[in-house]
Amino acid sequence: MNKLWIAMIAAAGLAVAGNAVAAGDAAKGKEKAAVCSACHGADGNTPLSPEYPRLAGQPDDYLEKALRDYKSGKRKNPLMGPQAQNLSKQDMKDLAAYFSSLGGDLKVKY
Ligand code: HEC
Repeated sequence: MNKLWIAMIAAAGLAVAGNAVAAGDAAKGKEKAAVCSACHGADGNTPLSPEYPRLAGQPDDYLEKALRDYKSGKRKNPLMGPQAQNLSKQDMKDLAAYFSSLGGDLKVKY
């Protein structure tokens, strides 16, 4: 009986971990965010220049959509557009999860 429970709990844990990766993994996003810090700041909240948006604390679905739109060309910007070209869908989810998880001045919820 005990072994059965352990197996069930382990299986449930794996299922949760699996979903977390698919939904965007903030730890992986952090690794991928090194290049972004050049413009958006190491914490996503201290941009190099006032025109560069703060990413920290923005909703992850908004950040992910912005990245998809830069990649597709729907949203155009000479600085940010090229940054999105090499990102996979999973990269975008991970980066969005990471920046969203950071505390920022923006804590907007739509
Ligand atoms: C060369 C400087 C530069 C780098 C590097 C850079 N960005 Fe940006 N990013 C910008 C600028 C400038 C904007 C604002 C563009 C605009 O007005 O559309 C922007 C906008 C964004 C936005 C939209 C934010 C909003 O509030 O609408 C997101 C999301 C974003 N960047 C994510 C990233 C990520 C993730 C990386 C790393 C993979 C990255 N950026 C790297 C300059 C940069």
